[in-house]
Amino acid sequence: MHPFQQILNSTLARTEGQPQPATPHNPLDLELRTLPVSATPEDFLALAKARRTIYLLGKALPLDEEKVEAIIKEAIRQAPSAFNSQSSRALILMGKEHDRFWALVRGQLRNVIPAESFHATSDKLDGFAAAAGSVLFFEDQETISHLQKQYIAYADNFPVWSEQSSGMAQYAVWLALAEKNIGANLQHYNPLIDEEVRQTWAIPESWKLRAEMNFGNIVAAADEKTFIDDDKRFIVAR
Ligand SMILES: Cc1cc2nc3c(=O)[nH]c(=O)nc-3n(C[C@H](O)[C@H](O)[C@H](O)COP(=O)(O)O)c2cc1C
Repeated sequence: MHPFQQILNSTLARTEGQPQPATPHNPLDLELRTLPVSATPEDFLALAKARRTIYLLGKALPLDEEKVEAIIKEAIRQAPSAFNSQSSRALILMGKEHDRFWALVRGQLRNVIPAESFHATSDKLDGFAAAAGSVLFFEDQETISHLQKQYIAYADNFPVWSEQSSGMAQYAVWLALAEKNIGANLQHYNPLIDEEVRQTWAIPESWKLRAEMNFGNIVAAADEKTFIDDDKRFIVAR
C-alpha cells in the first residue's frame, strides 16, 4: 500500500475512534468550555497587538489564581497539534512555587556564570521572580515516538511538528493572559535546568522542557515595537 494511503486509512480509523470529551472536574473549566465563540477578526488583531513581552511584572494578578490556572489550561487544550496528538504539557507554578522555580534557575546559573559577572543575571532573575507565576511548557516525547511508529512516512516530521505545536500553545497562553490584562515574558533556561525541574516537581521522564513563561500584573508597559517592511516579508499573488 502507498505510504500516504496508509496514512489516510489510519487517520480515518483514528478519527472514527476519537475519545469522548472527558467531563471537566473543575467548574471553571466547564464555564470556559461553554463560553460562546463570538470574537470578531478585529477583536483578535487588537488582542494580538496587545500581547507583548513584558519584563516588569508584579504579583497582584487581576484574577484569582484558580481562574488564571483554568485559562492557561484551556488555552493549551484548544491549541492545535499535528494529528490532534496533544503533545504539549505544562507545569503551572504560582506563588511560592514560582519563587522556588526562579531560585532553582538562579542556583543552576551560578554554577555556569562567573561570580564577577553574575550581578547582571541576578537583576534579570529578580525581575522574573517578581512575577506572580510561571508556566513551563513541555512536549511529550512518548507521544512523538508513538506517532513515528504509527505513521512511518511522516516519522521525520513529528519532532518538527511537536516544536511547532509547542509554539502555538505558548502563543495561545500568552494571548489568553493578555486578554485578561496579565503580562508575560518567555524565557529559555532549558536544558540547564531540566533535571532539577524534573526532580523537584516529579515531571515524567518523557516530558521535554521547551520554554518558561512568567506572568503577572503589568508594572510597566513594553516599549514601542518596530517592524520590518512588508515588501521584505510578504509575497501576495492573486
Ligand atoms: C521562539 C521565541 C523565543 C524567545 N525567547 C526569548 C527569551 O529567551 N528571552 C526573552 O526575554 N524573550 C524571548 N522571546 C521574546 C521575544 O524577544 C519577543 O517576542 C520579541 O522581541 C518581540 O516582542 P513582543 O513579544 O513584545 O512582540 C522569545 C520569543 C519567541 C517567539
